[in-house]
Amino acid sequence: MILLKHPNDLSSFIHNGSIAHNSIGFVPTMGALHDGHLSLIHTARLENTLVIASIFVNPTQFTDLTDFEKYPSTIEADILKLEKAGCDILFLPSVADMYPNGSSPSQQYDLGHLDSILEGEFRPGHFQGVCQIVHLLLETISPGRLYLGQKDFQQCLVIKKMISQIGMDTSVIICPTQREPDGLAMSSRNVRLSHLERKKAANLFNTLSYIKENILLEDLENLKQMAQNILTEQGFKVEYIAISKAQTLETVQNWDGKSTLVALVAAYINQVRLIDNLVLN
Ligand code: PAF
Repeated sequence: MILLKHPNDLSSFIHNGSIAHNSIGFVPTMGALHDGHLSLIHTARLENTLVIASIFVNPTQFTDLTDFEKYPSTIEADILKLEKAGCDILFLPSVADMYPNGSSPSQQYDLGHLDSILEGEFRPGHFQGVCQIVHLLLETISPGRLYLGQKDFQQCLVIKKMISQIGMDTSVIICPTQREPDGLAMSSRNVRLSHLERKKAANLFNTLSYIKENILLEDLENLKQMAQNILTEQGFKVEYIAISKAQTLETVQNWDGKSTLVALVAAYINQVRLIDNLVLN
């Protein structure tokens, strides 16, 4: 695996190697890699000649400075994992490399309601920061395929929307959420959970499964309330529980029995914020 730190080095490498746009698969990450990330690399490996991963903890997408400062970093272990998973290039830029003129946004992305609901409501500006960095990375790499995890369901829709807005010819491949044996979605933030918090954390997935099992039996508002009560009783501080159309994330009050639904949740266990989602039908 080749390690490149400067955007110019990466674009020259791709350009000089005359590597076709549609044979490049790209996996953007913020490091602290787990099997969820590695499953993206494995899928990209099967579908592309060149697999590029990036590790960059992007300051502009954090609304909470403590969250940014406490974001786990395990760079040496990450390098070994990427190499083993068959990644060809690791792009590891610094903040100054990515934002040589400062990180103030040069453009506002029109993300419609996706910018202000769910994650957008509780983390204002977050998705603008995500679009800013992913746009820069896509410009540097110009991949034919971009690999994202379904765990960040709303982020997948946002990035798709941004890509169609900037008119880039990159397909977004969404890979299934990887889970621990007890159902907890793999996340870099899980390492911040204490032993006891880690045991409780599986209840997030159990509650989403409860929604799925009862979707035909209960009124959706009641179902959300029941799910919220379960989590609150178990000591979670719930930010949101939503049942939405999977295509658009519009809230669904009365389900037509046809459209695909997704349940999404964000909740704190003490200081650690976790998100998860489950497609319901
Ligand atoms: O999902 C993430 O890790 C980040 O939001 C991403 C897509 C790498 C952009 O910084």
